[in-house]
Amino acid sequence: MTFLEFKDLVSKELDLRLDAYKLNRVERRVYSLMRRYQVEDLGDCFQRLQEDQAFKESFIKHFTINTSEFFRNPTSFKFLENVVLPKLFQENEKVRIWSAACSNGSEPYSVAILIKEMGVSPDRYEILATDIDPFILDIAKKGVYNSQALLRVEDKIAKKYFKPSGEDRFQLDEKIKKQVRFAHQDLLKEKFEKGWNLIICRNFFIYLTREGKDNLTRRFTQSLTSPGILFLGNTEFIFEPGIFGLKKINGSFYEKSS
Ligand SMILES: C[S@@+](CC[C@H](N)C(=O)[O-])C[C@H]1O[C@@H](n2cnc3c(N)ncnc32)[C@H](O)[C@@H]1O
Repeated sequence: MTFLEFKDLVSKELDLRLDAYKLNRVERRVYSLMRRYQVEDLGDCFQRLQEDQAFKESFIKHFTINTSEFFRNPTSFKFLENVVLPKLFQENEKVRIWSAACSNGSEPYSVAILIKEMGVSPDRYEILATDIDPFILDIAKKGVYNSQALLRVEDKIAKKYFKPSGEDRFQLDEKIKKQVRFAHQDLLKEKFEKGWNLIICRNFFIYLTREGKDNLTRRFTQSLTSPGILFLGNTEFIFEPGIFGLKKINGSFYEKSS
């Protein structure tokens, strides 16, 4: 079986749009998982995916890279705090924020902390956080992190919103937790809700093919309000934002013009 044949079969079996991901990355991840489980070839790997639920779950877990941390790329979060959020709250009675591919929740919770620090009332905003990986969503909902995830959290904020709970474990404050609603969603397949003032999708575009990225940019832009902001990861760029009706405003922030 060739890798392309394997990829097509797995896409159907797991109901995943593997075509949108960069092929060499998918291939590397599959072979490293096969080595770990001592699976001989692609045929055996596919058979095991069909028969062994634990292997199937491992495959999905291994395929989705969940690296995340609070205030990842602090300069971008400063721009969010000092420019983007104040403007959004000035211009809108209610601000709707979507963290797409949110991983363990550190990203949407970072935004909730910033808004709380701004003194904005909870009924003036909504934060939805989605991911394809059900295991990481369970972790996100618990809101317990290790010190690695908190490396970029300022001391004053860490003291205020995190309580030590066991060795190298820190529990996030309930008031922040309840500001974020988590849901399962595959960004490559499912329909998007419209009317978001801010869409945050960071460190997910890097895994996609050019076509996959363009499609997602188009669909995000359609889901934004006008004006509205798209916030990407620090190494992710939209080369011709004008094509999508977007304008780069700073680093990885793009505005849908009204
Ligand atoms: C590297 S993490 C990024 C986390 C966070 N946004 C950040 O920048 O710190 C990428 C996330 O994308 C999720 N993911 C992968 N494929 C996805 C898909 N098709 N739909 C939604 N989420 C997906 C993974 O489960 C993972 O949690």
